[in-house]
Amino acid sequence: MGIWDKRDDMVVHESEPYNAEPPPGALVDQVTPLDTFYGRNHGSFPQMDTGSWRLRVDGLVDRTLELSLDELQRRFPGQTLVATLQCAGNRRADLIEFRDIPGQVPWGPGAISTARWSGVALADVLAEAGLSAEAAHIAFAGADVSQDADPPQPFGASIPAAKATSSEVLLAWAMNDQALPTAHGAPLRVVVPGWIGARSVKWLQRITAQAEPTDNYFQTEYSILPPEADPHKAGPGDGIILGPVAIHCAILRPGKGAQLPTGPTEVTGFAFAGDERTVARVDVSPDGGSTYVHAELDAPENPWTWQHWRATLTLPPGETELIARAWDSTAAVQPESPATVWNPRGYANNSWARLHVTCHA
Ligand code: MTE
Repeated sequence: MGIWDKRDDMVVHESEPYNAEPPPGALVDQVTPLDTFYGRNHGSFPQMDTGSWRLRVDGLVDRTLELSLDELQRRFPGQTLVATLQCAGNRRADLIEFRDIPGQVPWGPGAISTARWSGVALADVLAEAGLSAEAAHIAFAGADVSQDADPPQPFGASIPAAKATSSEVLLAWAMNDQALPTAHGAPLRVVVPGWIGARSVKWLQRITAQAEPTDNYFQTEYSILPPEADPHKAGPGDGIILGPVAIHCAILRPGKGAQLPTGPTEVTGFAFAGDERTVARVDVSPDGGSTYVHAELDAPENPWTWQHWRATLTLPPGETELIARAWDSTAAVQPESPATVWNPRGYANNSWARLHVTCHA
């Protein structure tokens, strides 16, 4: 077992703060085992004492709430939802290959995982507090202090009240039917299905209803700057703030650089539509995009979860490029290359999945 109860072969980009993704090809299960789930952190794990911990709900509400974990569990109906979490930095490594992005974690395609989350609906807690009419945004504050932030501050995020009061947004204390691990935010975290992982705040301490989005450093840090912008000089209003995830896919098998015999080859992967969308189609090419076949695609479990797919391809002899590209239920398709989507902080790379393999006659 590796650190934080993760599997030994996690690709650890940083051990402090802990930033790690599962090895290529590991994300084959519909629900990712806890030891395989990626970890993305901006600071050291905070010391949390569940007994004395309280969740504070304040701001533009009729009643300020202070809730222990026990009270949360007793006073609100329990909810369980399978949902995929995807980091906005997933596949930054492919962007870096096109043009360097200094000082950012070079995530491969594994900063995405799926869990069965259990907790309560944020909507129910907000209803108990009573949202004022001016409460347009719901802000979350974690307990971990990040030295990456300028100035150093606890990790935070906000989402619009319309999303926060949708039934899928959870305050979760369990993951895959086990107590939420420290690494994933115990005793309580937010889960914002279909949105970038950065809005799913871990080690949650405070929920604040407010008129404007939070001014937490990480709210605007997770934005798409224009290619020519200097990320160190960019102001809060300079980027497109990230929220819903865009259609994305990955090839799981065969692996990069695989040496394969001739004959039919099974290619597998997953696609994730993001927001409230589902995956409508996945096209897979055995020959660098000259021809495509439609993959067999699993039905969506719900809009919040990835869908696995598979296709049997006849590969040409020699080295070839496998490509997969997915379409969502609004007919949006992934962009062709990292060059189209490159941005100075390296977020939201949802370009076609590509890898080279060699087929021997
Ligand atoms: N919450 C806190 N408190 N601190 C963090 O650093 N990282 C965010 C989010 N919530 C973060 C956080 C980011 S960027 C992502 S992608 C997800 O948590 C990762 O969740 P995981 O580590 O459980 O996979």
